[in-house]
Amino acid sequence: MKPAAHTSKAIRLSVLVAGMAGLAVGFMAWQQVKLEYRSSLDDLSRRSRSIAFRASLTVKEALKHPDVEAARSLGTRLDGHSRLLGLAVYRPDGRLLSSGSAIDDYLGALTAPVTRALGTQAEVVEMTPAGDIQLHILVTPLRDEQGVIGGVLVALHDASYLDDRMTEGLVRGAFWILVITMLLMTVTAALTWTVYERPLRLLTGWMRRLRVENAADEPPPALPDSALATETDRLAASLRAARSSSWTVSSEAVQTDKAWTRERLRAHAIECLHGDQLIVVSNREPYMHQLKDGEPRAIVPASGVVTAMDPVLQACGGVWIAHGAGDADHETADAEGRLTVPPGDARYTLRRMWLTREEEAGYYYGFSNEGLWPLCHLVHERPVFRASDWEAYRLANRKFADAVLEETKGSRAMVLVQDYHLALVPQMLKASRPDLKVGIFWHIPWPNPEAFRTCPWRVEILQGMLGADLVGFHLQQHCNNFLDTVDRMLETRIDWDDFSVAAKAHKTLVRPFPISIQSWAERAMPGGEALQKQIADLKDRHGLEDTAIAVSVDRIDYTKGIPERLRAIERFFEQHPQHRGRITFVQLGAPSRTHIRRYRDFLTEIESLADEINWKLQTERWKPIRLLVSHHDAATVHAFLRMASVCVVSSLHDGMNLVAKEYVSAREDGDGVLVLSEFAGAARDLPDALIVNPYDTGEFSEALRQAVEMPPKERKERMGRMRAAVEERNIYRWAADLLTTLARTGKPSTLTAEASPRT
Ligand code: G6P
Repeated sequence: MKPAAHTSKAIRLSVLVAGMAGLAVGFMAWQQVKLEYRSSLDDLSRRSRSIAFRASLTVKEALKHPDVEAARSLGTRLDGHSRLLGLAVYRPDGRLLSSGSAIDDYLGALTAPVTRALGTQAEVVEMTPAGDIQLHILVTPLRDEQGVIGGVLVALHDASYLDDRMTEGLVRGAFWILVITMLLMTVTAALTWTVYERPLRLLTGWMRRLRVENAADEPPPALPDSALATETDRLAASLRAARSSSWTVSSEAVQTDKAWTRERLRAHAIECLHGDQLIVVSNREPYMHQLKDGEPRAIVPASGVVTAMDPVLQACGGVWIAHGAGDADHETADAEGRLTVPPGDARYTLRRMWLTREEEAGYYYGFSNEGLWPLCHLVHERPVFRASDWEAYRLANRKFADAVLEETKGSRAMVLVQDYHLALVPQMLKASRPDLKVGIFWHIPWPNPEAFRTCPWRVEILQGMLGADLVGFHLQQHCNNFLDTVDRMLETRIDWDDFSVAAKAHKTLVRPFPISIQSWAERAMPGGEALQKQIADLKDRHGLEDTAIAVSVDRIDYTKGIPERLRAIERFFEQHPQHRGRITFVQLGAPSRTHIRRYRDFLTEIESLADEINWKLQTERWKPIRLLVSHHDAATVHAFLRMASVCVVSSLHDGMNLVAKEYVSAREDGDGVLVLSEFAGAARDLPDALIVNPYDTGEFSEALRQAVEMPPKERKERMGRMRAAVEERNIYRWAADLLTTLARTGKPSTLTAEASPRT
């Protein structure tokens, strides 16, 4: 549409609005003027009557006498003054007896009303033009004591002032009509421009840029309707998600054995979704805005859920609902908490939802991370279960479920619920919308039934999860534990061949989906010389120029086996002093859940342990351990992984651990050794790593020696096999498996199923 057309529409609208308002105001002004005229006329008639009444006694007396004498007795009493032109007296036969001196010119105008008054014997009032003035004539019959008409008395006024007043009123009214019309036109035009024209023009330009240039800028702000803004965001995200390949890929292409790529997943997702929306819901958001130097800055939180799900949403488009926990999250989202992400390259919609501090304390820090987290990770950390935390957890889950229900209102959707924070959400969703396809993926281990039964709300948690059509874990072992737990605690039918749980009319499949990563090659990371420079800068900054690097990347969490790792490093250098000064162990640690005392204490514990070991082993120019505690961005993590000849992952218990896979993916040169805990799910997928028991310091330190001394040929062979595995079983394949399985789950039941606890 041409801009001119926009403008004329705005003007037409403002002219229409102003015209209608002008007509209304004009009509009202006209009514007002008429009213004023009528009331002035009434006043004049009243005045006339009172003058006639006052003169009537004298006139009646005069009428008793013959003409000449009567006229004399009236003398100048019939003369007028000001607007009263004068009085006139007529005999009953219509003859003029006498009149005021100024009346002579108008006697002709009096004949008709006088005749009428005498004929009807009643008062006559009329307005008559005479020359260039308006006459107000009042004719009053005069009766004697017997009621016989003795004559009539006429009071004559110059009423031209009434017309003048009316004209003035009309001019005043026209003036205000003009002012109001102009004002309305201006206000309407300005409002139309600001609220509609301008945003829509910007939107048009933005859409054109998106379509033609594939531009990555954000949609214009302040669109006239929030639904339009939401749909625009989604449209943009979908378009971007679709930009590097066609949406229409035949099912034949989907079936091929080709590697799983973003495009292939996208095509596959379209088939699985059948036009349904894709909704992901998790506690942690993929992009968090934090204030830095007073400015909001987007960071990607250190989280397995984020690492895994962001590329999936980038490929498929959709909506990700998560808790907005950043201190600049409010100001960077719209009124509904929505924004498109990744920032500057929108591919899907992030819908933030808000929790109060109290809710966050009970639900996230309390029940999720002091209760369920240690419950599911067998690391000898006691779970803490507080009734108030459980209540907050239930309420927060309700909030997340409501956000999903709002987002899916009126449309069909596939909902992927993420992790232990949201165990109750599947059941809550199904209770309101049995037609939704709901999957929950549990990113952490599932313990054995003995461990799980310590949770006072074990039944509710299981019932909540079994609301889903599909429950996913990383490992078959976690599925087995889960089914064992359900079997012990709920009255359900478990089909061990099909790996499913049936409760009343609802069936839940339980399946392993070992999660994975998006390769670094696909992410916009520096390569070639830029990467070499970045590595050189990092080495320089941290005094690492002269040694080889072994790296670990973790959230600072007691499940990650960091003290065990430090002890193994200490043992390694003690037993193999020839390696001192030749290799440095760099620990990138992202502070995590620091409001929980155990996490704060844990940070202090590893800092002092690293300090103690460094103190013991360091030389003048070298320290065995570099503890870099901070939020490290993806580029820094990549550079460290790329430069490290060894990567150590020593979780005491871990659902998968994606750092292990990220290391393999970062080593594009096919070199490098991975030391990996047997208690991380990744150990099943990467048997070519040096698998260790992190509790066994001797075995662990020996694995470190082996890693450092491994011949290049063996290194490359192992790394080659690991890279092939990670490339083949990447995150796209994981998502495709999950979506396929969820899409194939049974027809939605109209009954909400809830298994009863075993008694
Ligand atoms: C694990 C959990 C994720 C969580 C992440 C980071 O990977 O499975 O759900 O997001 O830890 O923890 P945080 O508490 O910071 O989200």
